[in-house]
Amino acid sequence: MSEKGSLKGSILILDFGSQYTQLIARRVREHHVYCEIHPFNLSTEQVRKMDPDGIILSGGPASIYDEGAPQGDPALLEGDWPVLGICYGMHWIAQASGGRVARGETREYGGAEIVSEDGGELLAGLGGETGRIKVWMSHGDRIEKLPQGYQVLAKSRGAPVAGFYHPGKKIFAVQFHPEVHHTPDGKEILRNFLFRVCGCDPSWTMHSFVDHSVRSLRDRIKDGTVICALSGGVDSSVVAVLLHQAIGDRLHCIFVNNGLLRQNEAERVREVFEGHFKIPLTYVEASDRFLAKLEGVEDPEQKRRIIGEEFIRVFEEEAKGEKDARFLAQGTLYPDVIESISVKGPSAVIKTHHNVGGLPEKMDLDLVEPLRELFKDEVRLVGRTLGLPDEIVLRQPFPGPGLAVRVLGKLTRERLEILRRADRIVEDEIIRAGLYESIWQSFAVLLPVRTVGVMGDERTYEHVIALRAVQSQDGMTADWVRLPYDLLATLSSRIINEVQGVNRVVYDISSKPPSTIEWE
Ligand code: XMP
Repeated sequence: MSEKGSLKGSILILDFGSQYTQLIARRVREHHVYCEIHPFNLSTEQVRKMDPDGIILSGGPASIYDEGAPQGDPALLEGDWPVLGICYGMHWIAQASGGRVARGETREYGGAEIVSEDGGELLAGLGGETGRIKVWMSHGDRIEKLPQGYQVLAKSRGAPVAGFYHPGKKIFAVQFHPEVHHTPDGKEILRNFLFRVCGCDPSWTMHSFVDHSVRSLRDRIKDGTVICALSGGVDSSVVAVLLHQAIGDRLHCIFVNNGLLRQNEAERVREVFEGHFKIPLTYVEASDRFLAKLEGVEDPEQKRRIIGEEFIRVFEEEAKGEKDARFLAQGTLYPDVIESISVKGPSAVIKTHHNVGGLPEKMDLDLVEPLRELFKDEVRLVGRTLGLPDEIVLRQPFPGPGLAVRVLGKLTRERLEILRRADRIVEDEIIRAGLYESIWQSFAVLLPVRTVGVMGDERTYEHVIALRAVQSQDGMTADWVRLPYDLLATLSSRIINEVQGVNRVVYDISSKPPSTIEWE
């Protein structure tokens, strides 16, 4: 983006409330084109000022016949920019241009096949000789009559008009979702739109993201001070380095050691931030405070509550010295914005998973969340661009309540230490096997039972460690990893031999759903 607010060389996405809107944005970024998401009711006047190279209208949960169904400005379809409507976006184009949309009696949901009729520039090069393209559908309404001047782009069994376009106006619409990965040619379809139709230049990179973020952080924060709760995970680390680039010493990072961290975690974080980046860190050693409150607590939700409240208390005390602080920085990512129907749409019901829940309201701080539109793998790319070391960039996610929710049942210092040792072995061996980066999370869990074993000639009655390794895109769903038997054997024998108090190791083979990734 050259000028403030200008989308020249970029794509404007208008959000009709689809759960996939951010995915569309992500796909556009993957093609190295900058894009911004705005609400569906942006006026044509505003769009003209932004001057985008093209507009994508997202899908949405509504039927075009619903009362209060979202309506864009019809003049959008008269501008000199190309438009691509997806699903609801398509229905809206049809209705706004004088076509007819029929309320579907049955929903078409899941995999389908379309046959390209003419294809236009949008489907150019796809479908081979037969014109058949696999797509992913999710719709109830369907197009019954094309608006005047439009042509059929493709048909499907459930939708006689699976896509249409206006040859003169560069307006395209599709019933299916090119942004989801179940539409294998979706990437090509978007590529056609961005480059053949809109003539975009693929020049946007994560460096551009960093530049753009740094500039907009400066604009927003001005001469204010920002506090950042650093956990050492990739998200908060990227936020801290980004902010440090934007406002330098007006960033105050606070790292709280709650006694529930992995082995050497606190030292590693200090080394990277204070040593490597020279970002000053207020290191708070609060292990005793947390553990005193948690000693003997069994209930998982009570553990979480205690940890959350204690964190707020410690953080408030530390932040007292920061009288001028007006902002709190958090590493919220897009998948944390759960149940988000729409990120910026006016009808949005946003429920944010606050990493530091409760703080902004209590402390009267404005939230700064520079990563809230990114996915985890994009954050890792930003981290790389900022020069963060692999050990942080590639770090597996670690829950805020730390090892407390992996010591099942009663939390005691002794049980925490058993888990910490086992966890260290799991991390070591997974790294040694070259699997650490390809696995979403791998860790040990201490079970609240003892089992009988035999060591030497002695009968033992000791703890059980469960191993958990899962594959996931975003933590919302997950499958257990088929770890090699030899690796499982090594893990089991090392844990039983090296961690005193453990005489049995089991492997968790549950997917999410119906299980969760953590056991508590
Ligand atoms: P579940 O167990 O719900 O976990 O399948 C999904 C992802 O979230 C992490 N997790 C948490 N993260 N505070 C956090 O910051 C929490 O209380 C919490 N509980 C689970 C979990 O590690 C996984 O990545």
